[in-house]
Amino acid sequence: MADLNGLRERAKEIREEILKNAEQLVDSKAAYEVRKDFLDSKKGKIGALMKEMRDVPKEQKAEYGQTVNELKQWALSKFEEIDKHIKAKELQLRYESEKIDVTRPAVKMKPAHLHPVTQVREELIDVFASMGFKVYEGKEIETDYYNFTALNTPADHPARDMQDTFYLTPEFLLRTQTSSGQIHVMEAEKPPIKILSPGRVFRSDDDATHSPMFHQMEGLVVDEKITLSDLKGMLDMFVKKIYGDSTVTRLRPSYFPFTEPSVEVDISCFSCGGKGCSLCKGTGWIEVLGAGIVNRKVLENCGIDPDKYSGLAFGIGLERIAMLKYGINNIKLLFESDLDVLNQIGDQE
Ligand code: DAH
Repeated sequence: MADLNGLRERAKEIREEILKNAEQLVDSKAAYEVRKDFLDSKKGKIGALMKEMRDVPKEQKAEYGQTVNELKQWALSKFEEIDKHIKAKELQLRYESEKIDVTRPAVKMKPAHLHPVTQVREELIDVFASMGFKVYEGKEIETDYYNFTALNTPADHPARDMQDTFYLTPEFLLRTQTSSGQIHVMEAEKPPIKILSPGRVFRSDDDATHSPMFHQMEGLVVDEKITLSDLKGMLDMFVKKIYGDSTVTRLRPSYFPFTEPSVEVDISCFSCGGKGCSLCKGTGWIEVLGAGIVNRKVLENCGIDPDKYSGLAFGIGLERIAMLKYGINNIKLLFESDLDVLNQIGDQE
């Protein structure tokens, strides 16, 4: 039977139990469970003492009730204290785990960059613009006349075999060379002419160093008394700006129907300085472009008097320049848009 003495005994035990628990509690969830164990209105240990009131002798009831109430108040404030303490500890732990070390070096962000072929194109335009060249954007779909005939390559000319052409109709084709732009410019403008024409060209050609679509940059200068030495001087300046001051050029005789004489231009190898290495295949020289003195017939085709004027022209393959510059041995890597490859190339800048 419940009585005051028994209650005092139980109250003492409960206080001790709560204090013991308080030392071990580590998080608010556990604290909540323990609190429920003592203070839940239905199943709590303190609530149970209250239920026993009916068995307590009448004269003890008032003091019994007061004692249980005191115990309940004490437990409430104790658990509040425990709760505060645990919450502060949890906050501290969170601060520590989420701490930001502002002295840590930042993760390097990779800035975006232009495609390597675009970079080469802009670089070349810069160099030639500084020599007074204007940019002329030609047409990608051309007539047979502008791509071949006007460039001194009539239908039966064997030089047509040098370029495998994509014909759209017997008359229209995808231009195989930016040289077609020369004719448009010379028809529209009279000398002095100094233009640069970058753009896409197309050929039915496909291997490690050839792609059905690639980029060229055409240069054309027409004025009085233009000679091969003007060409050489201009190209010398161009290669020094792109490949460094110690780079020299070498002209080799070649053949193009629209130039006479025609030359192939080599530069001293920028990788080995001319001693011979894998890049220049041991020769010390790297071929970079085709050029020449504009054939009289081409000037005539455009209504320009070849006795009064002469011209120089050159054509540069931009992928070739990019491949040499970045050490790429397969032209396809430039067109597959593989970000790993493009980023790697950009990193060398
Ligand atoms: N059009 C030539 C080609 O695609 C390159 C070229 C050679 C252009 C000599 C020129 C030049 O203007 O003079 O192979």
